[in-house]
Amino acid sequence: MSAPPIGIDLGTTYCCVGVWKGKVEIIPNELGNRTTPSVVSFTPNERLVGEAAKNNITRYVESTIYDAKRLIGRRYDDPIVQKDKELWPFKLEKDFESDRPQYVIEYKGETKRFYPEQISAMILEKLKGYAEDYLAAPVSKAIITVPAYFNDSQRQATKDAGRIAGLEVQRVMNEPTAAAIAYGLETGCKGPKNILVFDFGGGTLDISVLKIENSKYKVLAVSGDTHLGGEDIDNILANFLIKEFEDKTGTNLKNNKKALRRLKITAEKAKRELSFSSEAQIDIDALADGEDLNLTITRSEFEDLCQDLFDKCIPPLDTAIEDSKLTRYDIEDVVLIGGTSRIPKISEILQDYFHKDNLCKGVSPDEAIAYGAAVTANLMLNVDDEEPLVTGEEKPKPKPNDKPKKKEDDNEDDNEDESEDENEDENEDENEDENEDDLKFETIEEKVVNKLINYTKYKRDRKDLDKINLELGEKNLVLI
Ligand SMILES: Nc1ncnc2c1ncn2[C@@H]1O[C@H](COP(=O)(O)OP(=O)(O)OP(=O)(O)O)[C@@H](O)[C@H]1O
Ligand SMILES: [Mg+2]
Repeated sequence: MSAPPIGIDLGTTYCCVGVWKGKVEIIPNELGNRTTPSVVSFTPNERLVGEAAKNNITRYVESTIYDAKRLIGRRYDDPIVQKDKELWPFKLEKDFESDRPQYVIEYKGETKRFYPEQISAMILEKLKGYAEDYLAAPVSKAIITVPAYFNDSQRQATKDAGRIAGLEVQRVMNEPTAAAIAYGLETGCKGPKNILVFDFGGGTLDISVLKIENSKYKVLAVSGDTHLGGEDIDNILANFLIKEFEDKTGTNLKNNKKALRRLKITAEKAKRELSFSSEAQIDIDALADGEDLNLTITRSEFEDLCQDLFDKCIPPLDTAIEDSKLTRYDIEDVVLIGGTSRIPKISEILQDYFHKDNLCKGVSPDEAIAYGAAVTANLMLNVDDEEPLVTGEEKPKPKPNDKPKKKEDDNEDDNEDESEDENEDENEDENEDENEDDLKFETIEEKVVNKLINYTKYKRDRKDLDKINLELGEKNLVLI
């Protein structure tokens, strides 16, 4: 028996996988962690992915790949690629046939070239493996989330990564929409309400304004900064440590790649600690020239160091609010997601900005997107699968032309292969078919409602269970 479909948040720095089993369950990795580093490392003997790869980052500096999400679906000459390239210790070259960037790695005595989607596929394959272990069954279907600003090429490359990993990607889904679903289910919010999703991740800041009305979710505006995230904070802290070390020992670490990576890992740990403690102790033995680095950093020192970076959160907030045609006073709830939003100063900044005493932190910031993706993946299963969802439920009789409604696909799936495009044309052209599909969709919706009533912790009376309607571009998807 195959396992249920999974929802994957494929992040720049960390990934998270969820599955619907009567409620959303987040799937842990081999270390029991609920998020997994988006890192692939090629050692002289083996290829490592996730935690093990990140642990090796200081040993195999030039053959440990991270940040593939920054490259996926982009052309080599893209100015963003050219700028980012300067920051990475691994080698990137242009594939002249496709104009795409390729990582050039020495592996097992050979020079290997990988496209970014191949690296992402290695990460997805690992996540698929975690899910298979957890569910004790082969996993074949998944929903993968992408930033709302991803263009067709980036979305298609993400789907390709899924296919390479052996996953049938039912759709790629916008990250803020997935987060909003998690918010809706956690709070039972039906609207009318304007919410702002503030997703401060490892590589990017993504802000979305959504309107919830009659349990319908509509994205009013998206904004953000594609180069503002936890990694930049790690760099600030690492630079501070470099200076401290140079002041103490006279040794400049700028060209010591290994020492720099060690510093960055330590900086990230200290940063996380400072979200919960008022100070963090930094101890690195024999960082360079046999010299150690030992110091204590306080939260207020950390906040001073990062003040300029924190200030950069404000202009995208202004833009999102302005584009949504609302004012900041119209935003009724601010939903904090992304690991970097755990930094207390970020909450303070947002509380000041919105003049609010409380922000919504009900959904785990690292898991909200995977949560929403898992809920949606479960719905997609119901669309495709004719197996009864609830014990005792009758298997529906197949109807002529009984096929999943193409409208349910994201508008971002524009680059589907030809056969799927043909289906879409058929659906758009033939209203009769569409009505029939609507009928089928009612049935599916019924099934999902039943399933939710029976299994979720959000048990409510059947007639009170609202539909969550996602507006995806011009197409609507009735979810629950
Ligand atoms: N307690 C914490 N305090 C501060 N930062 C944290 C904490 N926990 C995680 N982070 C940071 O959050 C970032 C990862 O967050 P997340 O998993 O949301 O990002 P991502 O999805 O990989 O990135 P992106 O959304 O930009 O693609 C990392 O930089 C990590 O160091
Ligand atoms: Mg993210």
